[in-house]
Amino acid sequence: MHKNEYGSLHIKNLTSHFLRTIMSNLFLLVPLVGCVSISSAQQSSLNLMPVPSNIEVQQGRFVLTSAFDVSVRADKNDAVLYRAVNRTYQTLNRRTSSFFKTQYITPSAETSPAQLTITVRSKTSGEIGVDESYSLKVTEQNIVLDAATTQGALHGLQTILQLVYKEDGKFYFPLVTINDKPRFKWRGLMIDVARHFISLDEMKRNIDAMAVVKMNVLHWHLTDDEGFRVESKQFPLLHERGSNGDYYTQAQLKELVKYAADRGIVIVPEFDMPGHSQSWFAGYPELASLPGPYRPGPRTQWQNDHPDPSRPPTRSIADLIKNMVSPTFDPTKKEVYKFLDKFIGEMTTIFPSGYIHIGADENNGMAWKLNPEIVAWMKDHQMQTTDELQRHFVKRVHDILKKHDRRMIGWEEIYNDKLPKEAVVHKWIPEGNGLTKSYGTANDFASKGYNTLVSEGFYIDIFMPAYIYYNNKSLDSLNQTNVLGGEAAQWTELADNENLAGRIWPRAAAVAERLWSPANVTDVDEMYRRLFQLSIQLDEQGLQHLSNYERALRRLTNNAPTDNLKTLTDVLTPAKGYKKLFAKMTKPTNETQQTAPLADVSDIVFCDSETKWAFRRGVGEYLKKNDPVLENLLKNQLIIWRDNDAALQPYFQQSTRLAVIKQHSANLHDAAVIGIAALENIRSGNQPDASWQQEQLKKLAEYKKSFGETELEIVSEIEALVNRKLSPLPASFPVF
Ligand code: ACM
Repeated sequence: MHKNEYGSLHIKNLTSHFLRTIMSNLFLLVPLVGCVSISSAQQSSLNLMPVPSNIEVQQGRFVLTSAFDVSVRADKNDAVLYRAVNRTYQTLNRRTSSFFKTQYITPSAETSPAQLTITVRSKTSGEIGVDESYSLKVTEQNIVLDAATTQGALHGLQTILQLVYKEDGKFYFPLVTINDKPRFKWRGLMIDVARHFISLDEMKRNIDAMAVVKMNVLHWHLTDDEGFRVESKQFPLLHERGSNGDYYTQAQLKELVKYAADRGIVIVPEFDMPGHSQSWFAGYPELASLPGPYRPGPRTQWQNDHPDPSRPPTRSIADLIKNMVSPTFDPTKKEVYKFLDKFIGEMTTIFPSGYIHIGADENNGMAWKLNPEIVAWMKDHQMQTTDELQRHFVKRVHDILKKHDRRMIGWEEIYNDKLPKEAVVHKWIPEGNGLTKSYGTANDFASKGYNTLVSEGFYIDIFMPAYIYYNNKSLDSLNQTNVLGGEAAQWTELADNENLAGRIWPRAAAVAERLWSPANVTDVDEMYRRLFQLSIQLDEQGLQHLSNYERALRRLTNNAPTDNLKTLTDVLTPAKGYKKLFAKMTKPTNETQQTAPLADVSDIVFCDSETKWAFRRGVGEYLKKNDPVLENLLKNQLIIWRDNDAALQPYFQQSTRLAVIKQHSANLHDAAVIGIAALENIRSGNQPDASWQQEQLKKLAEYKKSFGETELEIVSEIEALVNRKLSPLPASFPVF
């Protein structure tokens, strides 16, 4: 039997006394391993995320000491592997303060026996679809990692880092036999750097985090209306006029490609066209369908710059999608394709990936319909609709990519019955969403023979809790042979360099597990237990999402103590869905400007409240067992929440950003008072008083309202104490 103290140890530093105590109490309730083969429940005792496809745990453990050393049997020129081995070795050294005797693991003429032996049969670098499997066997004497490829070995090294645990002041590995391989070969994260620019360092930190959870594709959304983020030597006005100075130089782009490849990750660049392309036209207006001038900025700004009295102002988001005139390439001009040919050629010298994403999303054709020459061209070419013109453009760009030995990926708007078969279709539009028409289901694309990527249900920018993405079943029912995998998508209208990490992580790990682990790994409570521990590990390995949160809290209090504020914000989450984004798009103001810093409470709180999850588990167990220790823990937490409101009053007076959550603080107080009364009722042993219950539930329903674009997360759990029954989690939340 082994208890993992690594996670609980770190939790102490980060969260309330309650959380710490309740987690360690609940820990005793979790079945621990002492045996052979592992079931989902028994996986509890390990912290692996994603869960391996096959794992057996045995009794006993390997003791980590300063004698820990590594020998590698692999291609001596596999520099990626050696760098990864040394990174892992020093991460272990730092984490455990073991002061290993060996300093560096270097290729040597003969391999001497060592405590960790790594064998890699074939050197690979940054390729999608190679054999990523690995096996790992830990005995009391040694650890053996065996992989077919370099990429498999990198995954095995991450597993090693997740296995180590501390007990009674010493570090150990559990005895395991793991045979692991991914469910899908494409496990991506899309990051938009056009809306808000993301620094190279922040990109690196996100790549580190991706590697921890065995993601292998960074889909980099590099251009959009708001910014052109790539230096072009062929067409320097692209970045000079299209970026407001925020772009990556070619040296930086190459540096990131290498940084990612070192971690087994391929960068697939996206250059969005024919729509979402305003920033291209700032320097090269002749490529556009309508006359300029152009400057990088949101599409609503284009309409403000070019007011048309013949059309009424845009009123709703549905109207925007349908009728907005957006800057769009002119697909009838030969010069456009010459330009793209040269540009793509230049980009292939930077991005070795075999794939280039061309976007192609959300072109409503309005810019084309307003240009009489384009309309005449369509007539000459027997085209009835702008969809046909889009098809023509996509085919031309496809042929350019093919010439440069690249496969085209596009959002599902590239799909049509003449689309070349080697194109990859990227599904994103939720079926039946009522706003945007879907071009087909992922199954339609896959069964027509197209390699398909799925981001439907993986849009992490809409602030859903991790379990919603974890429960996304859209990959399960597909014609699997053509499904490459999926991607979590982080658009950045509401994320910037400061809050990006906390927006993506740890939630993206739930998507990573969906894409790596077997489809039957579905236990949500178990996922959350590992997710919050992983969050700490991610921070340890370079990500700054936890430290950014602490810094943002200090900013909100103007450096006054943040404890009381944190008690409240720890149980707040951003309002779910598109409401905030749509408000920003339809009613642009100073505060909602593209470049305004994202420093509201709603920008900095996490989409999953760890405190809520601990409280929820505590309430669930208490209602089953009536355990007095748990009762006491719950009551102590409720008292903290009750008393927090008075302490926060001065903070609300000094900050308008904080004043917007004042009502939540009052509601948390009131909810806590109800919770304490409910606990007392349960303890009294009396039957519940139905009219009292109704009255409390009515009040509690009010506390679910959002204020300052945030929601109070613990109301359902207080309802459970009133009802004496914990309701299941909502299966979904409204998006619009
Ligand atoms: C998209 O979200 N427009 C692909």
